[in-house]
Amino acid sequence: MAPDMAVTVGGLAMRNPFTVASGTFGSGREYAALWASRPELVCPIPGKPLSCLGALTTKGVSPQPWAGNDGCRMAETASGVLNAIGLQNPGVEDFCAHDLGWLADQGTPVIVNVCGHSLDQYVQVVERLEESPAAAYEINISCPNVDCGGLSFGVDPKLAAKVVAACRAATRRPLIVKLTPNVTAIADIARAAAEAGADALSLINTVAGLAVDVRRRRLVFDRGVAGLSGPAVKPIALHAVHRVHQAVALPLIGLGGIACLDDVLEFLLAGATAVGVGTANFTDPVIVPRLVGELERWCLDNGVKAVGELTGAAG
Ligand SMILES: Cc1cc2nc3c(=O)[nH]c(=O)nc-3n(C[C@H](O)[C@H](O)[C@H](O)COP(=O)(O)O)c2cc1C
Repeated sequence: MAPDMAVTVGGLAMRNPFTVASGTFGSGREYAALWASRPELVCPIPGKPLSCLGALTTKGVSPQPWAGNDGCRMAETASGVLNAIGLQNPGVEDFCAHDLGWLADQGTPVIVNVCGHSLDQYVQVVERLEESPAAAYEINISCPNVDCGGLSFGVDPKLAAKVVAACRAATRRPLIVKLTPNVTAIADIARAAAEAGADALSLINTVAGLAVDVRRRRLVFDRGVAGLSGPAVKPIALHAVHRVHQAVALPLIGLGGIACLDDVLEFLLAGATAVGVGTANFTDPVIVPRLVGELERWCLDNGVKAVGELTGAAG
């Protein structure tokens, strides 16, 4: 019998445990076209390739358009990538007018990633989206490469609780809070978010890093700091997922460096209910639908009746 691949993350029903990492999948159109051009990729809803996903997570959306950072925005490292995009996005009005309607019609729930420079800005975005077909919100309190807001909320339990409580008051939809690894005690932030009303947590965002241009004797990124992602961060992400799974009872979306089936299994066994694939989309843009099939086959071959059995099973 086919294994049950469905999971529920903080009230959000997903047909399988896969989503994509915010900021690595645009608003989905390019991937939809690419997946559609690959006849070997079978999707649950004919003609809607993104229905392969358990949920689609959008790039970060702010109240007004953000231009993002000047200068170099991405640089490769030995086993990952540094980025300092600065959450460039066209703002919530433009996002609702041009992207969200189309996305919501692709046969998979849409998690809108929300960013702001202040508590009010997060709430503004959530309030604006309440009448939209967004299925859930992912509150990004963890981006290392914007000037204010973002990371400053995610490193202080009291501030994290304030943002989460304010967003909680603005919506009854599933509220996922995205945590940063750039803290000493991630479980403290997780507990604060849980107590303030989060339905689920996603982790990790990028790890703070730096690159130096030796030839020019300058820092590569204008702001200095950038966010490291990809295979290099996987052990850090796994450690964070495991710690937080032991500290709070909320479902977790685990992400950070996932690039193959074993990575997915590691995150589930360490405590994640669902997983997000990010940087790997850049090197292999059809990796997610392939992993969906591989996980289902693995469950079948290994006598797993429901994928949820794997969550936290490594102890
Ligand atoms: C180019 C790029 C843009 C990103 N933009 C966002 C964003 O807008 N909001 C957010 O919460 N995380 C953002 N992230 C972080 C990812 O969602 C993810 O947490 C991180 O990259 C770790 O996963 P990965 O190693 O699979 O990429 C971005 C990452 C990259 C590489």
